[in-house]
Amino acid sequence: MKFNQSARFLKDKMERCLEKVKDCSGLFKEEGLKNYEVKELLEDMEKGLGNYIGKIDNLVQFDEEKYTIVQFLNEALKLEYNGIWDYNMYASFIKDPVLASDLKRFGASEAMHALLVADMVRKLGGEPQFNPPQYRREKRLSVKEMLEEHKKGELEAIELLERGMKKFSDPEFQYFIGKIRLDEQEHLKEVSRLLKEYKDLQAIIEVKDYRWRDDYAGDEKDRPWVE
Ligand SMILES: [Fe+2]
Ligand SMILES: [Fe+2]
Repeated sequence: MKFNQSARFLKDKMERCLEKVKDCSGLFKEEGLKNYEVKELLEDMEKGLGNYIGKIDNLVQFDEEKYTIVQFLNEALKLEYNGIWDYNMYASFIKDPVLASDLKRFGASEAMHALLVADMVRKLGGEPQFNPPQYRREKRLSVKEMLEEHKKGELEAIELLERGMKKFSDPEFQYFIGKIRLDEQEHLKEVSRLLKEYKDLQAIIEVKDYRWRDDYAGDEKDRPWVE
């Protein structure tokens, strides 16, 4: 099973490489470059990759459902990252300590989901795509508006998970996603309760520019990329 999935991802990667080679060939022509060794290399790569893709397709019977499940899980992972990010961001700007600790608790739950989803992607032979939102602009909003944003986010997560449960019949997947959906439904219930009961809904939250802090990636200055 693992071989089958890895081979499917290998095909996927080769297809992406082939596209890149074609892009390079196009630019080579467009810019009127005259290095014939490079031209030959690009032609060889295009031919070779096309050949490998055709062969792997003929020789291996892929499990397309498992492959699409990985893509679906990566979609879900993106929403989890949005959740981790936003719950923690608002928790750090909110003055009320009780509400802040509620938001942090939801954020921790989304972090646990992200971990589980990433593990499942790896188990299926795929690669988890880490797409944290990176940056949020400065803004002012009321507690009510902030909670409504979260409510929308939870609803979006539930809808996505339910779509997945309808689409994929794999029992292990159903069980796995079903458990996460229960947590999201619980979050939705709690956020809706806060919206009804929170005494200071009109209080204003001032969010300053906020960047992703990844404690495992060291200091910003240690990173090879510029944020
Ligand atoms: Fe979640
Ligand atoms: Fe949630």
